[in-house]
Amino acid sequence: MDSAPRTPVTAVIVVAAGSGQRLGYGMPKAKVPLGGDSILTHALRGVAAAGIARQICVAIPPGDPELHALCEAFAQDLKAERRRAGHAGDGGQLPVVTIVDGGATRAESVRAALAALLPATEAVLVHDAARALTPEAVFHRVSQALAAGALAVIPVMPVVDTVKTAEPATGGGAAIAPELVTGTAARETLRAVQTPQGFELATLRRAHDAAASFDAGQAAAVTDDAMLVELLSVPVYAVRGASQSLKITTPLDLIIAEGLLEGPLGARWVEG
Ligand code: C5P
Repeated sequence: MDSAPRTPVTAVIVVAAGSGQRLGYGMPKAKVPLGGDSILTHALRGVAAAGIARQICVAIPPGDPELHALCEAFAQDLKAERRRAGHAGDGGQLPVVTIVDGGATRAESVRAALAALLPATEAVLVHDAARALTPEAVFHRVSQALAAGALAVIPVMPVVDTVKTAEPATGGGAAIAPELVTGTAARETLRAVQTPQGFELATLRRAHDAAASFDAGQAAAVTDDAMLVELLSVPVYAVRGASQSLKITTPLDLIIAEGLLEGPLGARWVEG
């Protein structure tokens, strides 16, 4: 008898509704060119290549015809690839691509996508389009932890810098330097958090329902989905992320991502 855990019916939400102001391109980050394609196209291809999604639900800036067309073209390409591969009659594994209007915050974009998931969905991965070069292996590690029983799982990386807390310097100190150090975090316990973050669907829905009533200050402090699940006291597990999963945020990140695409190992090499 096969004792391997059953893989839950999984949707991948790709949040791509950010303005991308820090990248300085004057357009939504999802549209910014990377290696001849857009950041969003790379992200969607990575999700499809991982082969875990029954549905890919993309949140884009409301009323953006270009990004809408880009997602439609991606869905058509998936179908054409499947036909070329000779699976025309199969259809079972071809993900449904759904496009929704994102919200004013990342969490609102996630909530809009959660409302559009297929009824059969049991697990969901939430992925930042900005992490366009995430290797397939990371999707698999997250998905495997869900299949093994985790209600929440995130990919993480060790922190290489020493991390300190600081606050604005006051009084005479302000004439010396802008900030005063207040403490040093224990580096061996710190983890830098990436996406895709994986959840049992009902758990993530519960976490987002609770967050929907946050005031503006609380809402602004929400930077990922796992922190909302932590507020429910649900255990959040961590698996190894990858350095290629960098979040393309600044012009320097874009240069690094271009370098990864051109590099001799290719963008999605698997780290040891
Ligand atoms: O701006 P931030 O770094 O939090 O963005 C992380 C991801 O969330 C990006 O992929 C961005 O497109 C997405 N996002 C969104 N809706 C927003 C803000 C950000 O989908 N309102």
